[in-house]
Amino acid sequence: MSDKKPVGIGIIGCGNISGTYLKAAKDFPILDIRAVADRHHPTAVLQGEAFGVPVRSVADLLAADDIDIVLNLTIPQAHVEVGMAALAAGKHVYSEKPLAVTVSEGRKLIAEGERLGLRVGCAPDTFLGGAHQTCRDIVDSGALGQVVGGTAFFMCPGHERWHPNPDFYYKSGGGPMLDMGPYYITQLVNLLGPVASVTGMASMLRKTRPITSEPRNGEMIEVEVFTHVSGSLAFASGAIVQIVMSFDVAGHRHTPIEIYGTDATLLVPDPNHFGGQVETRAKNADWVDVPTTMPYWDGNFRSLGLADMAHAIRSKRPHRASGALALHALEVMAAVEDSARTGQRIEIATQPDRPAPLGDNIVNTILAH
Ligand SMILES: NC(=O)c1ccc[n+]([C@@H]2O[C@H](COP(=O)([O-])OP(=O)(O)OC[C@H]3O[C@@H](n4cnc5c(N)ncnc54)[C@H](O)[C@@H]3O)[C@@H](O)[C@H]2O)c1
Repeated sequence: MSDKKPVGIGIIGCGNISGTYLKAAKDFPILDIRAVADRHHPTAVLQGEAFGVPVRSVADLLAADDIDIVLNLTIPQAHVEVGMAALAAGKHVYSEKPLAVTVSEGRKLIAEGERLGLRVGCAPDTFLGGAHQTCRDIVDSGALGQVVGGTAFFMCPGHERWHPNPDFYYKSGGGPMLDMGPYYITQLVNLLGPVASVTGMASMLRKTRPITSEPRNGEMIEVEVFTHVSGSLAFASGAIVQIVMSFDVAGHRHTPIEIYGTDATLLVPDPNHFGGQVETRAKNADWVDVPTTMPYWDGNFRSLGLADMAHAIRSKRPHRASGALALHALEVMAAVEDSARTGQRIEIATQPDRPAPLGDNIVNTILAH
C-alpha cells in the first residue's frame, strides 16, 4: 500500500468547528473526506451541501467500508460515546478536544483503542504549527539554559458572546480549563515533557449567565462548572508553571505562555493558533523577535494532526496528536480542579513521551501538497 494513498475520513458532528476542518483538510492530500453525519441530520445536510461531501446517517457512516478514520467533532459530552462506537465499528478515531469529560472515560477510550489495535488521536494539533514548533526547536537547542518555570494564561469574558449554542461550555465537562486548557497544557508538554503533580484553586461566582449571541440572545444558562481556575503545574523536569483559565475576565495583558530558563526567557504565542510572534530575551540583552522557520503558521490548519495520524497509520509510526497525550492533558486539567475541591496536591499518573518534533523531512515529503 502506498504511503500517500488517501485515507477515508467520515465526520460525525457538523456544528461550528466542522467547517474549519472541511476547509483545512483540502490542504492535506492524504485526507479524503468521504461523508459527514450528525445526530441532527439537517445540520449534516447543510455542511454536506456547502462542501460537496456526501451526507449519511451516523449509523451508515459507521457501517461504511470506505471510512478508515472517524473525525469526531461532536460536543465534549459525546466524545467517548461516539469514539467507542467508531472503535466498535473497526474505525480509528480522531476527536476534538477534550478527549473525554472524565479521566476514567478517557482511559476507557484509550484502552479500547489499544485492545482493538486502532488509533485514537485528539486535538489540539496547534502545537504542530510553525510558531510552536519553532518554540520547541528553541527549547531543544538548550538556548534557554535550564527551564525553571513559566506561566500560561487564557482569560476571556466567556463564549456566550459569540457561540450560537454555548450551553455545553457551562455544563459538566465544560468550563475554561477543559475548553482552553488542552491548547496550553499540550503545548507545555510538547515543550517541557509531562507534568508530575499539581495544585489548584477555582471558583464559580455566577450561577447563571445570559446568552448574548444570536439566535438565543437573552436565554439564561445554568452554570455547573468552575469558571475561574488557577493552578500550579510541577513538571517531571522540575519546572513549575502557573496557569489561569477563566471565563470571568474582561481583559488582560499577559502573554499566552512564557517559559523561563536560567539563560533566557521564551514568549510563546497563542497556542490556539498555528502561528504568532515568538520572542526571546537572553540575560542582559534586549527582546528579540524570532522568525518562524517551520511551515504551517500562516493559516488555520486544523487537520494537521489528523493528517499526521493518517500518514502514521500508513507508515506504521506513532502519531503526534495522540490519545496518550490528550489523556495526560485531561488528567492534569481534572487534577487542578480536584485539587481546588480537596485542597490537596495531586500526583499525575500518566507520563507520556513528548511528541516527536514535526521535522523537515515529514513536512516536506508527506504533509505538503
Ligand atoms: N467552535 C469552536 O470554535 C471550536 C474550536 C476548537 C474546538 N472545538 C471543539 O469542537 C467540538 C465541537 O464544538 P462545536 O463548537 O462545533 O459544537 P457545536 O455544538 O456547534 O456542534 C456539535 C455538533 O455535534 C452534534 N452531536 C452532538 N452529539 C452527537 C452525537 N452523539 N452523535 C452525533 N452528533 C452529535 C450536534 O448535533 C452538533 O451539530 C467541541 O469538543 C469543542 O470543544 C470547537
